[in-house]
Amino acid sequence: MEVQENVITMPRIGDMAPDFEAVTTIGKIQLSDYAKDKWIVMFSHPADFTPVCTTEMTGFALRKEEFNALNTELLGLSIDSVHSHLGWVNNVREKMGIYMDFPIIADIDMKVSKLYGMLQPNESTTAAVRAVFFIDPSKKIRLIMYYPLNVGRNMDEIIRALKALQFSDANRVAMPLDWQPGEPVIVPPPKTLKEMDERIADTSCEKIDFYLAKKTI
Ligand code: BEZ
Repeated sequence: MEVQENVITMPRIGDMAPDFEAVTTIGKIQLSDYAKDKWIVMFSHPADFTPVCTTEMTGFALRKEEFNALNTELLGLSIDSVHSHLGWVNNVREKMGIYMDFPIIADIDMKVSKLYGMLQPNESTTAAVRAVFFIDPSKKIRLIMYYPLNVGRNMDEIIRALKALQFSDANRVAMPLDWQPGEPVIVPPPKTLKEMDERIADTSCEKIDFYLAKKTI
């Protein structure tokens, strides 16, 4: 996709993930060919060799197996060169014993950052904000998080949200506040008077009323 000068695009939930080719720490990738039939968690960080980013990126590395077990590949990004990424990955490996071996996009021309609304000029004109895009196996964007430069993300919440999306897809249910795997889920509310009466008569779910019913799967 062509990126126009001074135009900020903001992909939205439900959009197909804009395609791009990029240089990464594992070589060139084309998003449309990357991680076929898998989920992708794509995330940006403001800059290599910075403290909050180091905590976040090592956080992703430490839980990479958990993402992989959820049929998910990680894809990082910052507006830094691939040489900077390699130096940082190696430094973190030497100093902390953590290997950030997932691909990190070197978005030095800001092409991908602009395409994904990661460059938010009133926050910074040179560094990407802390974004997370959850992209499903059909390459549709399913959930977006944007955090500012000065607040690190919550890895438990990123993994919880991924599990919630996958569980919702598999079971056609929705997740209540603070849902954790194994807890009751929301069954879709009735859409007709007939369905409402069926729900009222249904003793198989835990009901506050016909429109707020939960079940454990
Ligand atoms: C950090 O990761 O520590 C950071 C990066 C850019 C701006 C502020 C903080």
